[in-house]
Amino acid sequence: MTEVVVVDSPDSASALAAELILSKVRTKPALRLGVATGATPVSLYRQMAVLAKQFGIDLGELQAYALDEYVGLEPGSPQSFRHFLEEHFIEVLGLDPNCLVVPSGDVATIATAGDHFEKAILDTGGIDCQILGIGSNGHIGFNEPGSSLGSRTRVKTLTENTRRDNGAYFSQPEDVPVHCISQGIGTILEARSLVMLAFGDKKAEAVASAVEGPISASCPASAIQLHPHATVILDEGAASRLEQLRYYKFVWENKPDWQSWRLS
Ligand code: F6R
Repeated sequence: MTEVVVVDSPDSASALAAELILSKVRTKPALRLGVATGATPVSLYRQMAVLAKQFGIDLGELQAYALDEYVGLEPGSPQSFRHFLEEHFIEVLGLDPNCLVVPSGDVATIATAGDHFEKAILDTGGIDCQILGIGSNGHIGFNEPGSSLGSRTRVKTLTENTRRDNGAYFSQPEDVPVHCISQGIGTILEARSLVMLAFGDKKAEAVASAVEGPISASCPASAIQLHPHATVILDEGAASRLEQLRYYKFVWENKPDWQSWRLS
């Protein structure tokens, strides 16, 4: 069963996820972390910085791999996911920018960019822990509904729904690129552990389909049910459509080893 943890607010969820990830860094300083963009993980990255400082955890050996990137933006574009991660992850955590690998959205090399990125992951031994958000249509990475559950990093066409959701980052919604390059669902499932975060009522339906619905390409996030070490951390809004909510809370309250997450 996918582990579902429900807490009272996005801040509490981010703090808990930060503790979980930093406890992994403590065990393995050269942790290979898969990093997501978007609004959801911003406070997780901030909390990681605060807690790493507080508990004296050295992040100097961390390696990071992005989930996805837009295709065809100008190099250095402020809307690129590389730029986003440099600002919200690398700078916030005081990391060396060279520790971050992002799939290339350069049109000139796009035909080989997916294989190149997959090789970069494999060459370093695979991703240890993948952070995920979830789209309101159930996407993970930019694997839109209908994506193959076995897919690898490749170019995808964004749906109107996703382009609308991401329009706020661009001066006009029409500027959101039509194409992206994204880790595939098969790629994501190969990470040794998954940590998904979702906040707010707007995500409740997608979360319920992902955690309790049938495993289906119609809800790409439902593929996390196939993963043996997937943890989904939610606020009350994102959890509000879960049928087994009381049971998840009971499991969490009685989890024998949850203290192993906590930093001390
Ligand atoms: C981000 C990504 C997407 C987002 C999702 C949720 O790298 O791949 O799957 O995680 O669209 O976005 P937010 O967090 O902005 O709601």
